[in-house]
Amino acid sequence: MPNPGSMKTTLPFRLKPIFPVPVFPVAFLRIIVRRIAVPLIAVLLSFAACTRPEPAAGESVQTALGSEPWRPRIHFSPDSMWMNDPNGMVYFDGEYHLFYQYYPGDKVWGPMHWGHAVSPDMVRWEHLPVALVPDSLGYIFSGSAVADPANTSRLGQDGRTPLVAVFTHHDPDLARDGSDVFQVQSLAFSLDRGRTWTKYGGNPVLANPGIRDFRDPKVSWFADRSCWIMVLAVQDRVHFYSSPDLRTWTRESEFGPGWGTHEGVWECPDLFPMDLYGQQKWVLLVSVNPGGPQGGSGTQYFVGDFDGSRFVPEQNPTDTLWMDGGADNYAGVSWSGVPAEDGRRLLLGWMSNWAYAQQVPTHPWRSAMTLPRSLFLFDAGGETHLGSRPVRELASLRKDSVPLVPGPVTALREISEISGMDAGPFEVDLTLRVPGGRADLGIVFSNDEGEEVRAGFRNPGGELYVDRTRSGDGAFSNGFAATHVHPLRMDPGEELTLRVYLDQSSVEVFAEDGKAVMTDLVFPTRPFNRIAIYCGEGETELVSGTLYPLKGFRDGH
Ligand code: FRU
Repeated sequence: MPNPGSMKTTLPFRLKPIFPVPVFPVAFLRIIVRRIAVPLIAVLLSFAACTRPEPAAGESVQTALGSEPWRPRIHFSPDSMWMNDPNGMVYFDGEYHLFYQYYPGDKVWGPMHWGHAVSPDMVRWEHLPVALVPDSLGYIFSGSAVADPANTSRLGQDGRTPLVAVFTHHDPDLARDGSDVFQVQSLAFSLDRGRTWTKYGGNPVLANPGIRDFRDPKVSWFADRSCWIMVLAVQDRVHFYSSPDLRTWTRESEFGPGWGTHEGVWECPDLFPMDLYGQQKWVLLVSVNPGGPQGGSGTQYFVGDFDGSRFVPEQNPTDTLWMDGGADNYAGVSWSGVPAEDGRRLLLGWMSNWAYAQQVPTHPWRSAMTLPRSLFLFDAGGETHLGSRPVRELASLRKDSVPLVPGPVTALREISEISGMDAGPFEVDLTLRVPGGRADLGIVFSNDEGEEVRAGFRNPGGELYVDRTRSGDGAFSNGFAATHVHPLRMDPGEELTLRVYLDQSSVEVFAEDGKAVMTDLVFPTRPFNRIAIYCGEGETELVSGTLYPLKGFRDGH
């Protein structure tokens, strides 16, 4: 763990503070706060910083900075210990369920359980007891959950709709002994809104045909054939199965060879229909590790058609399309059971990367989920692509709305400086004009240590990027401190929009209304408390913008 003192650098630029439009009396108060309180607090803080003893050898940066400075405030994270993939995502009886790969015994991956939380809105989460624990068939790996209102599974009783979890049992002893058949698919069910779970007596429901990687079943109801469909990750491809009752499964087909990236093993697939201008298309999500867009893990997607048996992609086979161009969105799958009148395809992912997930410097927990997102299809040059927007429910976290003064930006223009104690989380929405399509511009969050993270556009060809090279603690993994670049896959017009969410240890960037998205972890050693717009060359214009300080759902608001 690096010593925070050694990270001190001077800012590479001079900040030109320009404060947002004054709106009396809030703005007046802000001016007082900015002119008097902020400098006073800054002096006091720098005095405190000078007199604070250096952390003793072995003491973490985090301990020196107080407890849990990287604890996400607007993202789901476990209270303690290790978490990876979201599992069993189902909306039922007014609640979004989020199960997740969980090891309650350590801060690194271990014997997998299904942790559990529920939310009325995907934003505010209530932790519930662990739902599924390892048993004689093995650890509880990733999988999905569905409500079975027609009781096709005959697991319902007394008219109560069963929630059925379909997951992988992973037998660590068989795996260690060199067997190939250590992963099988099993069921568990709940008759009390997911509060307690019973493993099905006939497990496994899908035996292993002799393939080492055979996991992560995602199940959905296929109305046209009145059957359940399972998409399963099998080495570096997916298999489709069908079932009348969730208990007996028939193999339908395979997809993968020749399509997308095969640099790593395929994991956590999802399959669902989506609408594009009144036409139904099918989206297949496949997480892959390694081989992700920024190294390590990432989630690719395919768009095509599915007839209940076979998936036929429509894109160019050699194209690898990424749902998120950042380093830290993996194993995302969508919620089942979202009411038709809602109509959204809702998803969140694991906000980390297998390249360093077990080394990130948080304590006493590791990992968080991304913000929930609503997926959509769009057409770009005759090709269909997948976009994602933050869900509208997140607007309920806005505690203030600060309009930004429109006007020219050259070099760097500060839009806000916030007392360290109040810093983050934030949402910032910007519309920027780039005369002639020239672009090296965006937003930068920084702190008094000279640490910063940038998110912006560059190159006339249209790229979105996140630069976390100087974003704080990155020493835990080679390659963490990097700039990530993602193609925009659209013609950048003269106006570009950027919506950015900054939490204590993450930045999520939605460009052009979600047509290009990047999610990246950052570990600043002090909260980012300055926000500025920059323009690398020439001049850009801030057409409009709003800064929303957000309240954390963990703050008890
Ligand atoms: C993906 C994954 C899954 C597996 C689970 C184990 O991150 O490797 O394929 O089911 O994690 O925790």
